[in-house]
Parts: sequence; C-alpha cells; structure tokens
Amino acid sequence: MTKHIIKFPEHFLWGSATAAHQIEGNNTNSDWWAWEHSKQRALDLQKQGKNPELFYSGIACDSYNRYEEDFALAKQLNQNSIRFSVEWARLEPKEGLFAEKEFEHYEKVFQAAKFNGLTIFLTLHHFTNPIWFAKLGGFSKKENIKYFLRYAEKVVKRFSEYIDFVITFNEPEVYSSHGFLFGKFPPNKRNPIIFIQTVKNIIRAHNLLYFKIKQIRKIPISMAYHLSDFQPSGVLSKPLAGLVHFFSNEYILKNTVNCTDFLGVNYYFHHHLGWLGFRKKSLTSHGVTDLGWGIHPEGLERVLLNLKKYNKDIYITENGLADSQDLKRKQYIKQHLFYTKQAMEKGVKVKGYLHWSLLDNFEWNEGFGPRFGLLEVVRENNLERKVRQSALYYAEICKNNFLDYNQ
Ligand code: BGC
Repeated sequence: MTKHIIKFPEHFLWGSATAAHQIEGNNTNSDWWAWEHSKQRALDLQKQGKNPELFYSGIACDSYNRYEEDFALAKQLNQNSIRFSVEWARLEPKEGLFAEKEFEHYEKVFQAAKFNGLTIFLTLHHFTNPIWFAKLGGFSKKENIKYFLRYAEKVVKRFSEYIDFVITFNEPEVYSSHGFLFGKFPPNKRNPIIFIQTVKNIIRAHNLLYFKIKQIRKIPISMAYHLSDFQPSGVLSKPLAGLVHFFSNEYILKNTVNCTDFLGVNYYFHHHLGWLGFRKKSLTSHGVTDLGWGIHPEGLERVLLNLKKYNKDIYITENGLADSQDLKRKQYIKQHLFYTKQAMEKGVKVKGYLHWSLLDNFEWNEGFGPRFGLLEVVRENNLERKVRQSALYYAEICKNNFLDYNQ
C-alpha cells in the first residue's frame, strides 16, 4: 500500500492529560470526596442498580505517590508534554490555611515532570473544590472569587519556574452545568439562576486571574474549553443548532477570549440536532466508545475551523475515548489527528495535541469502569501500569512528528 504521510510542524507538542482527583487518590478534603461518601450518592447509584462501592475514587491510581513512574512512562512513550492539575483541597484544606507540606509535594511533582523533559500545562481548577469553599457557595457567589484568586496566585508564584502553560479552569461549561443545572456533579443543584451566576463568576475569576498571573510571569494562559460539534439534521433545525452552538461553545469563549494567549480545546462530542429540538442519536462515522459516545473525528475539524476567527494558537488539551479492549484507540487517534491537520492546512494554528488520558483513571460519575488510558491500570495487580498497543502507536507519532494514514 502506498504511504500517505501526514506531517506535523517542528516543535509540535505531543502529550497526554490527567487531573488530580482522577489519579492521585485520597483527595479527602474535596467536595467530590464528600459527595462520593454521601448518602444521597449511594441512593442515586442504588436507584440505577449500581453498587456504590465501585464509585469511590479511593486511592485512584495512587499517582500522588507514583508520579515519577507515570512521567517516566510518558517520556518513554516519546511524549514531550503533560497536562496535569494540582489540587486546591490539598493545598488549602482549611480557609486561609495553606499546607506547606503539600506545596513541597507538588514541587517534587513539577521537578519530576521537568526531569523527564516534559512541557507542563498546569490546570488550576479541574472540577473539584475544597469542602470549605463549596460550603461557602463556591463559584455561585461573586464574593468567593477572591478565595480562588488567592490560591491560584500562590500556586503560580511558587511554581512559576516550572509552568509552561496555565489552564485556569477545565471545562467551565461542564462544571457549571453538571453541578448547578443537571444535578450530576456536586453540589447537585438544578437551578438555572445559580447556574448562570456560576458561569458569570467563573468568567470573572478567569479574567481577573489573567492579569494577576501576568504580573508574576508572562506565562501563556487559557481555559480548557469543552467544544462540541453541533450539526443540524436539515434546514429547519439550523437556527436551533446555531443557538445550541452559541450557548454551549461560544458564550464562555467570547467572554474570556480577550484574556487568553492561546485556546485549549477539549473535543469529545458531535451532536446531530433534529428540527423538533431534541438531540437525535449522535451520528457516528466510526462506531461508539465503551460509554456509547459516537466517534466523529470530522467534527474536530469543524470545531477548529470555527476558532480561526480568533487568530490564536490552539492546543488540543483533551481528546480521547473509553476503550477497555483497546480496539478503537489507534484508529481514533489517527482520525482525530488527520482532521486536526486538515484544519491546520486551512490556516488554524494548532500547536499541540494532548490525549486524554495518560492512564486509566476515576471517571467521575462512572467510577473506574471506563478505560481512557494510553496506559492500562491493572486494579487487581497493585495498580500496575501496562502499556497499551495504541500507546505504542501514538509513541511512534510523537517520535516521528508524522503519521502514515495508510498504516
Ligand atoms: C474531563 C475529564 C473527563 C473526560 C472524559 C472531560 O470532560 O475534563 O475530567 O475524564 O472528559 O469524560
């Protein structure tokens, strides 16, 4: 078969992404930990016929202790960058009480990433909050923004020499809608007014933090935006698709874009909208993941092209799938990179790709069932890390800076 080489520019960043609560283990001072152990959650899970025992984050992947091994594996797989988060609930377990021991811990984590030659994307907020902050009303209250800013500034000041990129918030769209509108994440509210207040306060927090960080060091800053592809099923559903696109993809982006130096894109979903307004089943060009999510790599090209108007560098800060048997991951990576390159050829400045995730981890409401990792984590064998075939495939791309589409 002839080769079809898809080449990426020099200095392209290749890596993977993780989040503290999902991998570290024992994040006991966080609102997620409290929620996992609440009666309400146990009842919710029992109602769905699930065993609550399987839905505690517990020790997760024990990356709190095994970060050196994880980073070394990323390096072995030819990755040159990593996205991870530090945990606010550890660093400030009580209001105003910063835990020096935990700062020292994270210093070692940063050093280990650097020792392995990894460019660091640091996320400051990835879905979790300290319990005390959640109790004060979290981001639903404007007067609470100051707490987040104090924490975030401290972290950036302390670790600025190691941080290459800052992600202030991970997927604020998902965080606020799941927590305050759909009742899926703590604090499990279904209140449109609180939801809107939360979105607005996160926008404020990001924009304020942008200038504070710039005073510390000129580190490039963005959010990791959750961007999906919304396609109308016909002419009649066009206005609706436009509306959903605006509120889902554009609202937070438009209100924060002036305070970003690049755009972080998390891409997972394509939605096909019928004219009556409800979502038809996702059109899928490449089957579905273990979570039943339609695989639709073409949508990534459209999402990227839509960002061209902002004329900023773009990093894909998450893209991946649950695939426990590793049957689709290779193809998934290849196809998503193919459509990324298509967008690049049309002038979109994509500078890096971070696969979700480096290792199988705690998938929030879904527990440990879904397997998103390039590395398998064998829970029955002391959390052993095992390199999946698809990880080796991705490692070749990372090494060569190109892929052969026909392979
Ligand atoms: C989140 C991750 C999550 C992944 C897969 C993203 O929305 O940032 O924390 O594990 O999707 O669901």
